[in-house]
Amino acid sequence: MHMKCLLLSACLSLTLAPAAMAQTTAGSGVVPATVGNSAERAIGFAPNAPAGAALVIVMTDAALPPLDGIALGAAERTAITAAIAAASFDGKAGTTLSLRGIGAYPRILLVGAGATPSSLALAEAGGKAAQELKSEAQPLAIAGAFGDVSAADVAYGFALGQYRFDRYKTVDKKAPSTGAVTFVGANPSGAETAFANRWKPLVEGVRLSRDLANEPANVIYPESFVARVRETLAGTPGVSIEVLDEAAMRKLGMGTLVGVGQGSPRGSRLLLIRYRGAGSPDAPTAFVGKGITFDSGGLSLKPGAGMGNMKGDMSGAASVMGAVVSLAKSRAPVHVVGVAALAENMPDGNAQRPGDVTRTMSGKTIEMVNADAEGRLVLADANEYVAKAYRPSAIVNIATLTGAVVGALDNSYAGLFARDEALAARLIAAGTASGEELWRLPLHKDYAERMKSDIADIRNSATGQGPGASLGAHFIGFFVDEATPWAHLDIAGVNRSEKATSLVPKGMTGFGVRLLDQLARSGE
Ligand code: BES
Ligand code: ZN
Ligand code: MN
Repeated sequence: MHMKCLLLSACLSLTLAPAAMAQTTAGSGVVPATVGNSAERAIGFAPNAPAGAALVIVMTDAALPPLDGIALGAAERTAITAAIAAASFDGKAGTTLSLRGIGAYPRILLVGAGATPSSLALAEAGGKAAQELKSEAQPLAIAGAFGDVSAADVAYGFALGQYRFDRYKTVDKKAPSTGAVTFVGANPSGAETAFANRWKPLVEGVRLSRDLANEPANVIYPESFVARVRETLAGTPGVSIEVLDEAAMRKLGMGTLVGVGQGSPRGSRLLLIRYRGAGSPDAPTAFVGKGITFDSGGLSLKPGAGMGNMKGDMSGAASVMGAVVSLAKSRAPVHVVGVAALAENMPDGNAQRPGDVTRTMSGKTIEMVNADAEGRLVLADANEYVAKAYRPSAIVNIATLTGAVVGALDNSYAGLFARDEALAARLIAAGTASGEELWRLPLHKDYAERMKSDIADIRNSATGQGPGASLGAHFIGFFVDEATPWAHLDIAGVNRSEKATSLVPKGMTGFGVRLLDQLARSGE
């Protein structure tokens, strides 16, 4: 049958359509019926604490602040003050002090935010509280030394910190948190408005990104990724969606994107979401994410240990979509196009072979020497398409691109590569403000030498040792017009966390949503 196929597309439809259908059916049948993630606390704002709540006090130093709306008598204040002194609690950022047996409160948790806390420091205090009180049964009241409106910042952090992904657990499922969390202050409606306008949509974006990445690869594959994003954005004003399937991409000459997905019965997709807010510029900023829904390494098969983590190899694309969700749902006055380059990288008789030459939409040719260096391949075509079809003023790539960036920066920073100084500066500033930090790594013109091919324009991997993260970045940059400001973020070290931090529970982090959201809002 294969030999009679003259057209690749005809061949694929003959040989793969039944398999694809079988996969889809099997996939949905095998996936356990989800029982849903365990409930999170509803977030509210009020002038007074509800009765029976456990109390959280956000502290900026060792002094117990006046707490309007919280029932705390003189004797209880004295007891807390004594406990603070006994424990040498000083309100530094990241510190906590848990107290029981004071007044009628089932528990009082002091959380440090540090002196004159930034918005981010307040959020981190909120996240810390959410993490520490995950298994507390009571409703919560949170008050403290933050201004009336910045209660919204604490609530934002709380919402990020209480994220969980346990929907497939049917036994040993943690008891759901019962009761709401109430942020107590004199201006609850101001805080509520600030939360609803800015932070709630951002939390929804982060949640989408974490969910997409945490979902196993039998649930999230290119087609279902698109469906999940559509569902999340349904009815949102200012949003338009374009989806290219394999046939459309082949027609456009996207040989490298289609090539990567060729070993999988699950069709590749290019998903583009434009959001245009009121009064925004004509040219959008493009965010282009790597969306490998599973990276087995293809025929350059990865070793088995840890391969399961490669379900998260679409984290870049997931975070792009999360940022678009945040911007669109908050009606930000920005113009962005979010792109997800979606494919599953699998070994198969139809998979591309090391040594194959493919042609990108740009017409440039690639010698594909390592099937595990697939992220740069899908991004080459995705960048080319968005540049042609949307004429963006800048392109930012975000991708779990290389193991090498983890060696360089561990999980403390994402790697930043940029040809444009202004864009690099804006990204670094957005990283600091959002708490998703970047460290710049080099793009030297000599790196081009190491990516030279004898038979094509470029090869997708160098031989031997080298600056792996920079070589990957160089490859992507080779396909971006020099006149377009361009940056690339390598998030392979930060998209997943082995341990919980205040804003990020263990698992997939959603890294990049907060950063790109901040970048878009930071203007030109
Ligand atoms: N998805 C991986 C990179 C990765 C590694 C992400 C570890 C998260 C954790 C990527 O597709 C890959 O396999 N990169 C290769 C590139 C090499 C073959 C040039 C790598 O880093 O080894
Ligand atoms: Zn990969
Ligand atoms: Mn790979």
